[in-house]
Amino acid sequence: MSLPPTVTWQGGAAKGDLVIIDQTRLPRELIELRLNNLDSVIDAIKRLAVRGAPAIGVAGAYGCVIALRSGLGDKGLTRLAEARPTAVNLKWAVDRVRAAAKGDPARALKEAKLIHESDIETCAAIGRHGAKLIKNGSGVLTHCNAGALATAGMGTALAPMFTAHKAGRKFSVFADETRPLAQGARLTSFELAQSGIDVTVITDSMAAVVMREGRVQLAIVGADRIARNGDTANKIGTYGVATLCKAHDIPFYVAAPKSTFDAKLKSGKEIPIEQRDENEIRRPGGVQLVPDKAKVYNPAFDVTPARLIAGFITEDGILQADDLADWLSAPPGRAGV
Ligand code: MRU
Repeated sequence: MSLPPTVTWQGGAAKGDLVIIDQTRLPRELIELRLNNLDSVIDAIKRLAVRGAPAIGVAGAYGCVIALRSGLGDKGLTRLAEARPTAVNLKWAVDRVRAAAKGDPARALKEAKLIHESDIETCAAIGRHGAKLIKNGSGVLTHCNAGALATAGMGTALAPMFTAHKAGRKFSVFADETRPLAQGARLTSFELAQSGIDVTVITDSMAAVVMREGRVQLAIVGADRIARNGDTANKIGTYGVATLCKAHDIPFYVAAPKSTFDAKLKSGKEIPIEQRDENEIRRPGGVQLVPDKAKVYNPAFDVTPARLIAGFITEDGILQADDLADWLSAPPGRAGV
């Protein structure tokens, strides 16, 4: 099954559609959704039909065209920006389109297309910088899905893997299943296997064992929001992976575009964490797993402290936490270190 674009726009500003892959149906079936009203865009973002911080940023940017042409104005844009609270790319993209469009859907579409194009370039640059970290014969662990399905381009955490593979390097990937919605089992394994990369899915609870067995030399994950000090929010379970990497002396990297950094936040304590429906854990796929009398806790993300992160793979190079404040205040395009 070869995939159409994760997120794209078809047609003009007045009548065009936002077209996305419905990721809730993968890998069983490939269904595209054609969205042309604001409620359906917000619903697709909330139920993870389109997901991954950069992809929801691009979808949100196109969603602004729909909100403005439907006469929903600023209130509609704010509702869209708040559809998922942790991934800052959504708010960043909506704010950027809001400022450029000044209420005009045609101008909104022009800006959304710029955001879309730059996401493709950014992912490729992250791939080039990060590929240097992947050595022949090594094992790489990743969590959740930060591939082409999570962006408009080739991905963030998976981009170095695609680039190293294209360059002929041989390595294997361990993809954490990623409870409770199985983005690793369903999406990361699908993307990597399709490109011919050796991938093994493990349950989240097996990461410690494969590390102790000496099968992992590097971990790369994506991010939903990174504070100025480098504290990083990503899919729940990421903090556990980083802690295990520290215990096993394995470098743990975060791959993310500048649009995922929130310069306004001093530390991870200020990052809002999305709490999701308890039925994702209580009744996965509609089948009762947890008795009704037991409580369920379902935060969608956790925050990994900067001290556990070996570096940030960005479009401008691999940065250390100490470089971030300067880099974030520099104009776009400043070379990394
Ligand atoms: O809830 P999801 O599937 O949207 O969570 C996605 C992640 O946590 C990704 O790692 C992150 O958004 C980076 S995607 C390039």
